[in-house]
Amino acid sequence: MEAIILVGGLGTRLRPLTHTIPKPLLPLANVPMVERMIKNLPETFDTAILAVNYGLNEMEKYFDGKDIGKKIVIVPEEEPLGTGGAMRNCFDHITGTTAVFNGDVVSSINLEKMMKQHVKTGAKGTLALWEVDDPSRFGVVELKNGQITQFQEKPEKGTELSNLINAGNYLLEPEILEMIPTGKKISIEREIYPKVAGNGLYGFPFEGYFIDSGTPESYLEANFKSLGKNGTAAHKGASIRGNALIHESAKLKDCIIGSDAIIGPGVEMEKCVIRKSVILSNVSGYGSVIEECIIGPDVSFKNDLTRSLISPKGTISF
Ligand code: GTP
Repeated sequence: MEAIILVGGLGTRLRPLTHTIPKPLLPLANVPMVERMIKNLPETFDTAILAVNYGLNEMEKYFDGKDIGKKIVIVPEEEPLGTGGAMRNCFDHITGTTAVFNGDVVSSINLEKMMKQHVKTGAKGTLALWEVDDPSRFGVVELKNGQITQFQEKPEKGTELSNLINAGNYLLEPEILEMIPTGKKISIEREIYPKVAGNGLYGFPFEGYFIDSGTPESYLEANFKSLGKNGTAAHKGASIRGNALIHESAKLKDCIIGSDAIIGPGVEMEKCVIRKSVILSNVSGYGSVIEECIIGPDVSFKNDLTRSLISPKGTISF
Protein backbone atom coordinates (compact mmCIF):
# COMPACT_ATOMS: atom_id res chain seq x y z
CA MET A 1 0.00 0.00 0.00
CA GLU A 2 1.22 3.48 -0.84
CA ALA A 3 1.28 6.75 1.08
CA ILE A 4 1.73 10.01 -0.81
CA ILE A 5 3.44 12.69 1.24
CA LEU A 6 3.05 16.25 -0.05
CA VAL A 7 6.41 17.86 0.43
CA GLY A 8 6.64 20.36 -2.40
CA GLY A 9 5.61 23.64 -0.79
CA LEU A 10 7.87 26.68 -0.54
CA GLY A 11 7.60 26.89 3.23
CA THR A 12 7.50 30.68 3.09
CA ARG A 13 6.33 31.04 6.68
CA LEU A 14 9.50 29.34 7.89
CA ARG A 15 11.90 31.56 5.99
CA PRO A 16 14.81 32.15 6.30
CA LEU A 17 15.25 28.56 7.54
CA THR A 18 13.68 27.17 4.37
CA HIS A 19 16.05 29.14 2.15
CA THR A 20 18.74 26.58 2.96
CA ILE A 21 16.74 23.55 4.17
CA PRO A 22 13.43 22.62 2.48
CA LYS A 23 10.71 22.40 5.15
CA PRO A 24 10.31 18.58 4.96
CA LEU A 25 14.00 18.18 5.78
CA LEU A 26 13.88 20.51 8.79
CA PRO A 27 14.33 18.35 11.85
CA LEU A 28 11.75 17.59 14.51
CA ALA A 29 13.64 16.39 17.58
CA ASN A 30 16.72 15.91 15.37
CA VAL A 31 15.01 13.78 12.67
CA PRO A 32 13.85 15.42 9.39
CA MET A 33 10.07 15.77 9.51
CA VAL A 34 9.49 13.75 6.34
CA GLU A 35 11.68 10.89 7.60
CA ARG A 36 9.78 10.90 10.88
CA MET A 37 6.49 10.69 8.99
CA ILE A 38 7.69 7.77 6.84
CA LYS A 39 8.94 5.89 9.90
CA ASN A 40 5.58 6.40 11.63
CA LEU A 41 3.60 4.80 8.79
CA PRO A 42 1.88 1.55 9.80
CA GLU A 43 3.39 -1.68 8.49
CA THR A 44 0.72 -2.07 5.80
CA PHE A 45 2.45 0.74 3.92
CA ASP A 46 5.45 -0.54 2.00
CA THR A 47 5.94 2.56 -0.17
CA ALA A 48 6.20 6.28 0.54
CA ILE A 49 5.75 8.52 -2.50
CA LEU A 50 7.18 12.00 -2.03
CA ALA A 51 5.57 14.67 -4.20
CA VAL A 52 8.30 17.27 -4.55
CA ASN A 53 8.78 20.60 -6.26
CA TYR A 54 10.78 23.04 -4.15
CA GLY A 55 13.82 21.33 -2.65
CA LEU A 56 14.02 18.43 -5.13
CA ASN A 57 17.83 18.22 -5.21
CA GLU A 58 18.13 18.29 -1.43
CA MET A 59 15.44 15.61 -1.09
CA GLU A 60 17.07 13.30 -3.67
CA LYS A 61 20.43 13.75 -2.00
CA TYR A 62 19.03 13.06 1.46
CA PHE A 63 17.28 9.81 0.54
CA ASP A 64 19.94 8.53 -1.89
CA GLY A 65 21.02 5.11 -0.60
CA LYS A 66 19.24 5.61 2.73
CA ASP A 67 17.36 2.63 4.16
CA ILE A 68 14.46 3.63 6.37
CA GLY A 69 12.45 0.44 6.02
CA LYS A 70 10.10 1.53 3.19
CA LYS A 71 10.49 1.95 -0.55
CA ILE A 72 10.87 5.67 -1.29
CA VAL A 73 9.68 7.06 -4.63
CA ILE A 74 10.43 10.71 -5.33
CA VAL A 75 8.06 12.24 -7.88
CA PRO A 76 9.20 15.65 -9.13
CA GLU A 77 6.95 18.46 -10.36
CA GLU A 78 8.41 20.94 -12.83
CA GLU A 79 5.96 23.60 -11.63
CA PRO A 80 4.19 23.52 -8.25
CA LEU A 81 0.91 21.72 -8.97
CA GLY A 82 -0.91 22.45 -5.72
CA THR A 83 -2.16 19.68 -3.44
CA GLY A 84 -4.46 18.04 -6.00
CA GLY A 85 -2.16 18.36 -9.00
CA ALA A 86 0.70 16.94 -6.95
CA MET A 87 -1.35 13.88 -5.99
CA ARG A 88 -2.45 13.34 -9.60
CA ASN A 89 1.19 13.53 -10.67
CA CYS A 90 1.84 10.46 -8.45
CA PHE A 91 -1.01 8.44 -9.93
CA ASP A 92 1.20 6.02 -11.91
CA HIS A 93 2.83 4.87 -8.68
CA ILE A 94 -0.32 3.87 -6.78
CA THR A 95 -1.99 0.48 -6.79
CA GLY A 96 -5.25 1.03 -4.85
CA THR A 97 -6.47 2.84 -1.74
CA THR A 98 -3.90 5.52 -0.98
CA ALA A 99 -3.13 7.55 2.12
CA VAL A 100 -2.16 11.19 1.61
CA PHE A 101 -0.41 13.39 4.14
CA ASN A 102 0.49 17.05 4.29
CA GLY A 103 4.17 16.71 5.03
CA ASP A 104 4.23 19.28 7.80
CA VAL A 105 1.46 17.93 10.03
CA VAL A 106 2.32 16.32 13.33
CA SER A 107 -0.67 14.60 14.89
CA SER A 108 -1.87 11.80 17.12
CA ILE A 109 -4.09 10.31 14.43
CA ASN A 110 -4.60 6.55 14.52
CA LEU A 111 -4.27 5.68 10.84
CA GLU A 112 -5.18 2.03 11.33
CA LYS A 113 -8.49 3.03 12.94
CA MET A 114 -9.11 5.48 10.12
CA MET A 115 -8.43 2.73 7.55
CA LYS A 116 -10.90 0.40 9.29
CA GLN A 117 -13.59 3.09 9.11
CA HIS A 118 -12.74 3.78 5.45
CA VAL A 119 -13.25 0.12 4.53
CA LYS A 120 -16.37 -0.30 6.68
CA THR A 121 -18.15 2.71 5.16
CA GLY A 122 -17.05 1.87 1.61
CA ALA A 123 -15.93 5.49 1.28
CA LYS A 124 -14.45 6.98 -1.87
CA GLY A 125 -12.51 9.26 0.41
CA THR A 126 -12.05 9.75 4.16
CA LEU A 127 -10.72 13.03 5.55
CA ALA A 128 -9.19 13.32 9.00
CA LEU A 129 -10.95 16.11 10.89
CA TRP A 130 -9.77 18.19 13.81
CA GLU A 131 -12.01 20.23 16.12
CA VAL A 132 -11.04 23.84 16.79
CA ASP A 133 -12.61 26.48 19.06
CA ASP A 134 -12.63 29.19 16.41
CA PRO A 135 -12.90 27.91 12.82
CA SER A 136 -13.08 31.38 11.21
CA ARG A 137 -9.55 31.11 9.74
CA PHE A 138 -10.12 27.63 8.31
CA GLY A 139 -12.24 25.58 5.93
CA VAL A 140 -14.87 23.63 7.88
CA VAL A 141 -17.03 20.66 6.96
CA GLU A 142 -20.60 19.71 7.68
CA LEU A 143 -20.77 16.13 8.92
CA LYS A 144 -24.01 14.11 8.79
CA ASN A 145 -24.02 10.47 9.83
CA GLY A 146 -20.29 10.35 9.26
CA GLN A 147 -20.53 11.75 5.71
CA ILE A 148 -19.14 15.13 4.71
CA THR A 149 -22.06 16.91 3.08
CA GLN A 150 -20.72 20.46 2.65
CA PHE A 151 -17.58 22.57 2.81
CA GLN A 152 -17.47 26.14 4.07
CA GLU A 153 -14.41 28.43 3.70
CA LYS A 154 -13.48 30.72 6.59
CA PRO A 155 -16.97 31.04 8.09
CA GLU A 156 -17.93 34.24 9.91
CA LYS A 157 -18.44 33.74 13.62
CA GLY A 158 -21.87 32.30 14.33
CA THR A 159 -22.39 30.99 10.78
CA GLU A 160 -20.07 27.98 10.95
CA LEU A 161 -21.52 24.61 9.91
CA SER A 162 -19.32 22.91 12.50
CA ASN A 163 -16.01 23.33 14.32
CA LEU A 164 -14.38 20.51 12.34
CA ILE A 165 -11.52 21.44 10.02
CA ASN A 166 -9.57 19.45 7.45
CA ALA A 167 -6.48 18.00 9.16
CA GLY A 168 -4.52 17.40 5.94
CA ASN A 169 -4.60 13.60 6.04
CA TYR A 170 -6.75 11.55 3.67
CA LEU A 171 -7.53 8.02 2.53
CA LEU A 172 -8.54 8.07 -1.10
CA GLU A 173 -9.76 5.58 -3.67
CA PRO A 174 -8.14 5.93 -7.11
CA GLU A 175 -11.43 7.22 -8.58
CA ILE A 176 -11.02 10.46 -6.61
CA LEU A 177 -7.48 10.94 -7.87
CA GLU A 178 -8.75 10.27 -11.41
CA MET A 179 -11.15 13.22 -11.06
CA ILE A 180 -8.14 15.58 -10.89
CA PRO A 181 -7.13 16.98 -14.30
CA THR A 182 -3.52 16.12 -15.18
CA GLY A 183 -0.66 18.60 -15.43
CA LYS A 184 -2.64 21.48 -13.88
CA LYS A 185 -2.38 23.38 -10.63
CA ILE A 186 -5.32 22.14 -8.57
CA SER A 187 -6.26 22.42 -4.91
CA ILE A 188 -7.92 19.16 -3.89
CA GLU A 189 -9.54 20.87 -0.91
CA ARG A 190 -11.19 23.61 -2.95
CA GLU A 191 -11.69 22.08 -6.37
CA ILE A 192 -12.27 18.35 -5.94
CA TYR A 193 -13.62 17.49 -2.47
CA PRO A 194 -16.64 19.84 -2.75
CA LYS A 195 -17.67 17.89 -5.87
CA VAL A 196 -17.69 14.60 -3.92
CA ALA A 197 -19.39 16.02 -0.79
CA GLY A 198 -22.53 14.01 0.03
CA ASN A 199 -21.46 11.24 -2.32
CA GLY A 200 -19.11 8.89 -0.48
CA LEU A 201 -16.85 11.41 1.27
CA TYR A 202 -16.53 10.58 4.97
CA GLY A 203 -14.99 12.36 7.93
CA PHE A 204 -12.78 10.88 10.63
CA PRO A 205 -12.69 13.22 13.65
CA PHE A 206 -9.85 12.43 16.03
CA GLU A 207 -8.62 13.71 19.37
CA GLY A 208 -5.21 14.16 20.94
CA TYR A 209 -3.02 16.69 19.16
CA PHE A 210 -2.72 18.26 15.71
CA ILE A 211 0.09 20.66 14.83
CA ASP A 212 0.69 22.18 11.41
CA SER A 213 4.37 22.83 11.95
CA GLY A 214 4.60 25.46 9.20
CA THR A 215 5.09 28.59 11.36
CA PRO A 216 7.96 29.39 13.74
CA GLU A 217 5.71 29.01 16.79
CA SER A 218 4.19 25.73 15.64
CA TYR A 219 7.59 24.42 14.45
CA LEU A 220 8.84 24.79 18.02
CA GLU A 221 5.69 23.16 19.39
CA ALA A 222 6.00 20.26 16.92
CA ASN A 223 9.61 19.72 18.02
CA PHE A 224 8.68 19.44 21.68
CA LYS A 225 5.73 17.16 20.88
CA SER A 226 7.99 14.91 18.78
CA LEU A 227 10.53 14.82 21.58
CA GLY A 228 7.85 13.49 23.92
CA LYS A 229 9.42 11.84 26.90
CA ASN A 230 12.47 10.60 24.98
CA GLY A 231 14.92 13.20 26.18
CA THR A 232 18.62 12.85 26.96
CA ALA A 233 19.36 11.64 30.49
CA ALA A 234 22.87 13.05 30.78
CA HIS A 235 25.44 14.78 28.54
CA LYS A 236 28.96 15.94 29.29
CA GLY A 237 29.13 19.69 29.97
CA ALA A 238 25.35 20.08 30.34
CA SER A 239 23.06 20.40 33.30
CA ILE A 240 19.76 19.13 31.96
CA ARG A 241 16.53 20.68 33.29
CA GLY A 242 13.26 18.90 32.56
CA ASN A 243 12.94 17.37 29.15
CA ALA A 244 15.67 18.08 26.59
CA LEU A 245 17.36 16.31 23.69
CA ILE A 246 21.07 16.72 23.02
CA HIS A 247 22.64 15.11 19.98
CA GLU A 248 25.49 12.81 20.96
CA SER A 249 27.95 14.74 18.78
CA ALA A 250 27.25 18.10 20.50
CA LYS A 251 30.20 19.51 22.48
CA LEU A 252 29.00 21.46 25.50
CA LYS A 253 30.78 23.18 28.37
CA ASP A 254 29.09 24.79 31.40
CA CYS A 255 25.66 24.84 29.76
CA ILE A 256 22.13 24.60 31.19
CA ILE A 257 19.83 22.88 28.73
CA GLY A 258 16.04 22.71 29.10
CA SER A 259 13.35 22.40 29.75
CA ASP A 260 12.10 21.82 26.22
CA ALA A 261 15.35 22.29 24.34
CA ILE A 262 16.73 20.40 21.35
CA ILE A 263 20.40 20.56 20.48
CA GLY A 264 21.36 19.31 17.02
CA PRO A 265 24.43 17.49 15.69
CA GLY A 266 27.80 19.23 15.66
CA VAL A 267 26.69 22.03 18.01
CA GLU A 268 29.44 23.57 20.17
CA MET A 269 28.42 25.81 23.04
CA GLU A 270 29.98 27.19 26.18
CA LYS A 271 28.32 29.01 29.10
CA CYS A 272 24.89 29.03 27.47
CA VAL A 273 21.38 28.59 28.85
CA ILE A 274 18.92 27.17 26.32
CA ARG A 275 15.19 26.96 27.10
CA LYS A 276 12.19 26.18 24.90
CA SER A 277 14.39 26.42 21.81
CA VAL A 278 15.71 24.42 18.89
CA ILE A 279 19.39 24.73 18.02
CA LEU A 280 20.02 23.30 14.57
CA SER A 281 23.19 21.56 13.36
CA ASN A 282 26.71 22.96 13.65
CA VAL A 283 25.81 26.10 15.60
CA SER A 284 28.47 27.47 17.89
CA GLY A 285 27.77 29.82 20.75
CA TYR A 286 29.23 31.40 23.84
CA GLY A 287 27.80 33.10 26.91
CA SER A 288 24.15 33.51 25.92
CA VAL A 289 20.66 32.89 27.25
CA ILE A 290 18.32 31.70 24.52
CA GLU A 291 14.56 31.31 25.04
CA GLU A 292 11.82 30.38 22.54
CA CYS A 293 14.13 30.60 19.54
CA ILE A 294 15.13 28.59 16.51
CA ILE A 295 18.80 29.07 15.65
CA GLY A 296 20.90 27.81 12.81
CA PRO A 297 22.10 25.83 11.05
CA ASP A 298 25.83 26.58 10.72
CA VAL A 299 25.98 29.91 12.54
CA SER A 300 27.87 31.37 15.43
CA PHE A 301 25.98 33.30 18.13
CA LYS A 302 28.35 36.19 18.21
CA ASN A 303 28.79 36.90 14.57
CA ASP A 304 25.63 35.80 12.82
CA LEU A 305 22.76 35.71 15.23
CA THR A 306 20.80 38.65 13.87
CA ARG A 307 20.78 37.04 10.43
CA SER A 308 19.94 33.50 11.43
CA LEU A 309 17.54 33.78 14.30
CA ILE A 310 13.84 33.16 14.26
CA SER A 311 12.35 34.19 17.54
CA PRO A 312 8.55 33.99 17.57
CA LYS A 313 8.32 35.69 20.93
CA GLY A 314 11.70 34.81 22.29
CA THR A 315 14.45 36.66 24.08
CA ILE A 316 18.21 36.56 23.84
CA SER A 317 20.67 38.22 26.11
CA PHE A 318 24.44 38.32 25.90
P1 GTP B 1 3.93 28.14 3.30
O1 GTP B 1 4.58 28.71 2.07
O2 GTP B 1 4.64 28.60 4.53
O3 GTP B 1 2.45 28.37 3.36
O4 GTP B 1 4.15 26.56 3.33
P2 GTP B 1 3.86 25.47 2.20
O5 GTP B 1 4.47 25.91 0.92
O6 GTP B 1 4.34 24.16 2.73
O7 GTP B 1 2.29 25.47 2.04
P3 GTP B 1 1.20 24.71 2.91
O8 GTP B 1 1.68 24.63 4.32
O9 GTP B 1 -0.12 25.30 2.64
O10 GTP B 1 1.21 23.26 2.24
C1 GTP B 1 0.61 22.15 2.85
C2 GTP B 1 1.35 20.90 2.41
O11 GTP B 1 1.21 20.71 1.01
C3 GTP B 1 2.82 20.97 2.70
O12 GTP B 1 3.23 19.68 3.10
C4 GTP B 1 3.44 21.35 1.36
O13 GTP B 1 4.74 20.81 1.21
C5 GTP B 1 2.48 20.71 0.38
N1 GTP B 1 2.33 21.47 -0.86
C6 GTP B 1 1.78 22.71 -1.02
N2 GTP B 1 1.79 23.07 -2.31
C7 GTP B 1 2.36 22.05 -2.99
C8 GTP B 1 2.67 21.82 -4.37
O14 GTP B 1 2.40 22.64 -5.26
N3 GTP B 1 3.26 20.63 -4.68
C9 GTP B 1 3.55 19.69 -3.75
N4 GTP B 1 4.15 18.57 -4.13
N5 GTP B 1 3.30 19.87 -2.43
C10 GTP B 1 2.70 21.03 -2.06
